[in-house]
Amino acid sequence: MSNSISARMAQALLACAMLLSSYAEAADKLAHVTILATGGTIAGSGASSTTTVGYTAATVGVNQLIAAVPELAKVADVKGEQVFQIASENMTNQHWLTLAKRVNTLLAQADVDGIVITHGTDTLEETAYFLDLTVKSKKPVVLVGAMRPGTALSADGPINLYNAVLLAASQEAIGKGVLVALNDQIHAAREVTKTNTSTPDSFKTPELGMLGYIQGNKPYFYRASTRKNTADTEFDVSKLDSLPQVDIVYGYANVNPVALNALVAAGARGIIHAGVGDGSLAAPVKTALIAARKQGVLIVRSSRVGQGIIARNGEANDDELDFVASDTLNPQKARILLTLALTRTTDSKEIQRMFYTY
Ligand code: DGL
Repeated sequence: MSNSISARMAQALLACAMLLSSYAEAADKLAHVTILATGGTIAGSGASSTTTVGYTAATVGVNQLIAAVPELAKVADVKGEQVFQIASENMTNQHWLTLAKRVNTLLAQADVDGIVITHGTDTLEETAYFLDLTVKSKKPVVLVGAMRPGTALSADGPINLYNAVLLAASQEAIGKGVLVALNDQIHAAREVTKTNTSTPDSFKTPELGMLGYIQGNKPYFYRASTRKNTADTEFDVSKLDSLPQVDIVYGYANVNPVALNALVAAGARGIIHAGVGDGSLAAPVKTALIAARKQGVLIVRSSRVGQGIIARNGEANDDELDFVASDTLNPQKARILLTLALTRTTDSKEIQRMFYTY
């Protein structure tokens, strides 16, 4: 081979080596984000491109989700783990304990800068709040889902996943508590809720407001939560293998207390009453709740209304009845806080403090 050809080949090889090392250097500068996949519509598939309801959730694995968004490599050094593969209506306390322990183990590692959790949207707000109360780190944890399966026209999963990874890799998201990112919006775990059964703008934080936006490959925060969360939490699930059973009963005109009595008989340690109005108690239900309290069941008055403060001693004399008022937590969020509170105390005054703290 002539000297000039071998010289050119040597130059080409050197250029490739320099390019690879620059890529490696750039990759090394990117934040390290682990994607924990749990299932849901973001991992769903439908019979056709126009199937946006009636599809199958939890069919696509985490590696496929990542491969479908090659742009992820530009914003973070991403690794994927398939923690579960379920539709999120089937999420249980056991799933939450497994997930919280995995998140805390990963975030304790120096080579993990943030975590994204892909999740079904039906209970996404609940898992987010459970993690908001149990993650022991200020590093970003972002939950993301999709309202349409990946097989659908204008599927929202890929852009939601890209934005969630970008957020989890950002400095701005550090110390903000567990975040929920869908539809270019950033929400706090404590207040975000699913407000529509099927549209891509389903996740909202009514009245108290979302935290910010993700736009042009950048997160923009305009507010922060005022309540304790993540690294400031007093709850520790690291040594727990189970959680106390807490159930919710719904209030409505002509309500029948049979369901409440059955839940108490089945061993519920706590009851969340999703009352009408400001957590009002219909007479038959009030009688049943008082009897439950006498058996040592913790009672929290929440409301089916969804917004506003459930005032202590407002629609019921909580001091006299020894009940707890849920402040602004909706019934499904109040259930999570009471569940964790019961891992530390059965003192109702202490639990009321927790509802004013988190
Ligand atoms: N089965 C629902 C769930 O897994 C699908 C809804 C969704 O993920 O958007 O939460």
